[in-house]
Formats: sequence, C-alpha cells, structure tokens
Amino acid sequence: MNRIEVCYSPALFDLYKNKDAYVVVVDVLRATSSICTAFSHGVSSIIPVKTRDEAYAYKQKGFLVAAERDGIKLDFADFGNSPYNFSKENVFGKHVVYSTTNGTKTIQIAAHSKGVLIGAFSNISTLTNWIAKKNAPVIILCAGWKNKYNIEDSVFAGALTERLLATNAFYTDCDSAHAALDLWKHNKHDLRALIDICAQRERLRKNKLDDCIDFCLQLDSCNVVPIFNGTALVNAEI
Ligand code: MLT
Repeated sequence: MNRIEVCYSPALFDLYKNKDAYVVVVDVLRATSSICTAFSHGVSSIIPVKTRDEAYAYKQKGFLVAAERDGIKLDFADFGNSPYNFSKENVFGKHVVYSTTNGTKTIQIAAHSKGVLIGAFSNISTLTNWIAKKNAPVIILCAGWKNKYNIEDSVFAGALTERLLATNAFYTDCDSAHAALDLWKHNKHDLRALIDICAQRERLRKNKLDDCIDFCLQLDSCNVVPIFNGTALVNAEI
C-alpha cells in the first residue's frame, strides 16, 4: 500500500517532498481547471513559467501566451486564465506559454519528484485511475493563494484522497489528508455553498471573472492527465 499526503501550501512543500512520489498539483480556481480544459481541447503542450519577464520573452519569440496576475490578464498576453479562454479554437495543436499567480510556480517547485500531475474536479476519475496503476506514494500539493491556505484546493484534495483510498491501493496517516477528507465529506453535497465563502471566489467576482466557477466544480468533464516533463506539461498516456 502506498501513502497519500496532502500539502496545503507551496511554502510547506520542503516538509513533504519525496523523489519517489507523484505530486498532484491543484489550483481549482483556476489554473489546473484551465490546464485540463486545454488538454481536453487538444493543446500540444503548456510551458509553465514563473515570471512575467519570462512570459514576455516567449511572447517576443512568437509564442502564444496565457498569463495573469491577481486574476487579471497581463497586457501583452494573448489571453488570461479562464478555462473558457482555452477553447479548441484557441489552443488545438498549439504550444501555450503559461504564467499565473500561484499555479505555475507550484508546478515548478514539485519538479524533482517521480512525476508532477495536474488535478482538477474535471479530471478526478481519470487521474485516480492513472495514479492507482503506478504503485507509488502520492502528495497532493495545493497551490493555495500566495503561500496561504485556501479552501477550494483543500476540498479537492479531500475528494481525491477519498477516491484514492477507495481503490484499496493507498492508505493515509497524514493529518492534513484526514482534515481535507473531512472537509470534502461535509461539503460534497453542496460544494457550491462552500466555494461561495472562498476568498478566491470573491476576488474573481470583483474582477467579473466568476462565470467559470460552476464549470471548475464539475466532476469528470474530461479524461486527460497532464504531466510535467521538466519543461512543459504534456498529455500522459491513459
Ligand atoms: C493561479 O494560478 O494563481 C490562479 O489560478 C489564479 C487565477 O486564475 O485567478
């Protein structure tokens, strides 16, 4: 049996990191939901970059760039971070450079593990089945908000923990996994009510970017497993 752990912030990741574990990066509102949407619409790869300058340099070289800070699209970017931006029309067959406030940095910090995977409600079953075949420990890494805890990633961590435990290939002795599981079990029948108290929900509302929330909470709307190859996210074979 392999162990599941949940890390609630990129700032805590040093305490969890394990080169033999798969790390599932989670940023439900909105980075990882957008990445899954992009792969379900046939993007070739997504190159996550940490800084605005790196994203700008790619733009100068002619790359398609999706980038935001604090939710707002950067002025030079082709589009921002709504999953609706990653339509088939915009991304099919393309390599997209991607820079976001929390999500893309979180992918980079997990790079020295067995594999970095992208998790969202939209790919939760496909992801569970993929991981269950691998016989390795799993760390669910919440992107949070600027290193702080957030509810939306934590409740997703609970949902994924529940599904992984149900495969009987995993166990957990991790208090943060148990807490996430509890949060999920108490709220799974009305997830939207829980999300409505989240700080990110309010930030998105203020910026009129909250039209994608129900979309981001929809379970199993796609069957992709994006995986980081050290440079870019690509589609893992499922
Ligand atoms: C992020 O990666 O920081 C978030 O997804 C931010 C957002 O999309 O508003």
